[in-house]
Amino acid sequence: TPRIFSGIQPSGGLTLGNYLGALKRFVEKQNEGIETIYCLVDLHAITVWQDPEKLRAQTREAAAGFIAAGIDPRRSILFNQSQVPGHAQLAWIFNCVARMGWMGRMTQWKDKTAGKNAEAESLGLFAYPSLMAADILLYHATHVPVGEDQKQHLELTRDIAAKFNHDYGVDFFPITEPVIEGAATRVMSLRDGSKKMSKSDPSDASRINLTDEADAISQKFRKAKTDPEPLPETLEGLKDRPEAKNLVNIYAALADMTTEAVIAEFGGKGFGTFKPALVDLAVAKLAPISGEMKRLMADPAEIDRTLGDGADRANAIASPILRQTYDIVGMIRSR
Ligand code: TYM
Repeated sequence: TPRIFSGIQPSGGLTLGNYLGALKRFVEKQNEGIETIYCLVDLHAITVWQDPEKLRAQTREAAAGFIAAGIDPRRSILFNQSQVPGHAQLAWIFNCVARMGWMGRMTQWKDKTAGKNAEAESLGLFAYPSLMAADILLYHATHVPVGEDQKQHLELTRDIAAKFNHDYGVDFFPITEPVIEGAATRVMSLRDGSKKMSKSDPSDASRINLTDEADAISQKFRKAKTDPEPLPETLEGLKDRPEAKNLVNIYAALADMTTEAVIAEFGGKGFGTFKPALVDLAVAKLAPISGEMKRLMADPAEIDRTLGDGADRANAIASPILRQTYDIVGMIRSR
């Protein structure tokens, strides 16, 4: 039976990229009735410096974002990673299975250290994908919905599972399937169509935050960079137009339409027509989420209770898998 696991780092506010590439899909999977486990990966967040109070606030804000977007903490398991000790414990074992060379080849590691002194980065940042593999395999998850940028990390997760199974002569960890679907698996910056929309971009105008209200959403889309041409009549016409393509993909994902259908509707029309339609759609879909987030964040104790309850349920699944892993590896367990 399928079991879904995925995670988001609470290292800043959630963006439209996180929403369309991940969170919206998380809700769909939950609503299809599949077993779904969703994690705010606070241990991953501290691979780069996080102010402790801000980290706590961002973790609560992300939890509110999940619930506001439609995650039902009774139907899905929603928790923060550090409350289930098995993540860190299994990550250690995977640190001993994975090879340094595998980590060094990760494009995210290379991007994050480009032009910097890699020697000065944390050891945790280097080993980041090993903890990610532990997140997934601790639950024997079969499917992992993510945006395009996580594909390589999921391939590494498969490599770690396969090497563990091979080294110990077992068929224990599943080879997980990445689920990278939909029109917006890679949402780009609104200021630069060659850059990914990201919570860490210094320009707030480059992204839509899940906390943005109608005014901000509208302004950012109206000011979004485009070329002067009208939208093309065919999909191929978007090929060398990254900014136009990005806005069409965002529209499609928000409207649950295919990109083809959006082009069929708006092909030949200029941005003077398309952008206002996009603004109306985005405000209709996103403003209720930011409103609901604000309401939920007014009661942090309730959010903490929800995360604690999720952690208990996650731990009940994780504990026996961790115990079996220790047995396979040769650890003495006296209790
Ligand atoms: P993170 O926190 O960077 O992003 C969370 C999810 O959002 C997706 N995403 C995007 N999708 C489309 N367009 C974008 N511009 C965009 N930006 C982000 C990401 O692909 C991701 O699905 N390493 C992970 C967190 C993680 C994880 C895991 C994920 C830790 N353990 C286990 C899956 C399973 C990360 O940094 O995601």
